[in-house]
Amino acid sequence: MNIVLTCNRDMQTRVIKICLVSLLLISHVVALQWLAIGKRQMMWNKKAHCTHARRQKLLQGNQGRLCKRNMEFMPLIINAARATMKTCQETFADRRWNCSSIDFVPNLMHDLTAGTREQAFVSSLASAAVGHTIARACSMGSLLSCGCGRVPREPPNGAFKWGGCADNLRHGFKFARSFCDSPWRQKNRTETTEAIMNRHNNKAGRRIARTSVITQCKCHGVSGSCNIKTCWRALPKLLEVSEFLKRKYYIATEVVSQWRGKRRKLIPANSQMGMYGKNDLIFITKSPDYCLPNPKVGSLGTRGRLCNGSSSGTYGCDSMCCGRGFTIETIEKLERCHCKYYWCCYVKCKACRIWVQQQKCY
Ligand SMILES: *[C@@H]1O[C@H](CO)[C@@H](O)[C@H](O)[C@H]1NC(C)=O
Ligand SMILES: *[C@@H]1O[C@H](CO)[C@@H](O)[C@H](O)[C@H]1NC(C)=O
Ligand SMILES: *[C@@H]1O[C@H](CO)[C@@H](O)[C@H](O)[C@H]1NC(C)=O
Repeated sequence: MNIVLTCNRDMQTRVIKICLVSLLLISHVVALQWLAIGKRQMMWNKKAHCTHARRQKLLQGNQGRLCKRNMEFMPLIINAARATMKTCQETFADRRWNCSSIDFVPNLMHDLTAGTREQAFVSSLASAAVGHTIARACSMGSLLSCGCGRVPREPPNGAFKWGGCADNLRHGFKFARSFCDSPWRQKNRTETTEAIMNRHNNKAGRRIARTSVITQCKCHGVSGSCNIKTCWRALPKLLEVSEFLKRKYYIATEVVSQWRGKRRKLIPANSQMGMYGKNDLIFITKSPDYCLPNPKVGSLGTRGRLCNGSSSGTYGCDSMCCGRGFTIETIEKLERCHCKYYWCCYVKCKACRIWVQQQKCY
């Protein structure tokens, strides 16, 4: 069973009681379960698929109903889940925690269920990915229920006209909100710290994605003269959004729960810190250093990881191997070499054997 303990020992007795009761009420909600549908190789086109996923607790809260009502979106949700896993691993390839544990979904470990900084990142990315995928699919014209996004209200800034087909941010991110926040919207139940934290991080991910839109343009006119230029708003690649979120991950704020009357609020754990903003990530559980394997805290350890012996960054062996040292292997690689250009029009290369050094953590 995956119970996340968010009740602190230093709370008042009354608070602990309320906290434990609410803990029992929501103990079946586990973060990010829906990502598991990205691992399925299947067509998602029957209501029975939604029911089945709900019974397996992959769809939680209202997600089962959303699935039935928006069947057209389900293949996109599957794509968004896959994109989340792949992008997270690309973004964190250079760090001790490299997001490989996301592959265990729906049996995630403590690192992605206990309310850590890492979970905050993945939640925000997943929510951004759903919005991103749907907003783009709308503008590609592949959906019946939506089309191009709105033309921006502000007049064009430069010599162009608004035109083309903008990504449908409103539609995409509205659905992302309903879908991703749904497990954390439990009516008639005491709000849990977890629920508030997850909704906050989901929202931060969507906000960062929405504000990262860029203006793309196309030229028209005689032989590409660009007499007429039309532009529209488009989302950047998900990997770029993920890089923005990684910066937020570094400066995420640890929070604790506090009652203000009947409402729970999450405030910075360090009272010296100012309140976090809407675009900031928050977490409730400190992360381990991920140096050694420890299933209890969701750490796989870095033994055997590749690293760079001459770099001082997170990918450097000093940091990656946590001071345990590393092995240096010399491995053989094939490389294209002696390339020659033949007129017209191809390049021919030879394959050369080269020796490269590779460092691996003890
Ligand atoms: C929630 O609680 C209110 C009053 O306490 C009640 O009227 C309502 O039916 C409840 N809703 C659900 C979904 O249980
Ligand atoms: C990520 O880290 C895990 C655990 O240290 C390791 O097994 C895996 O090979 C790493 N993945 C990549 C792509 O380096
Ligand atoms: C290792 O790090 C150094 C210094 O940052 C860099 O110049 C070098 O290209 C890196 N090597 C590899 C294989 O990435």
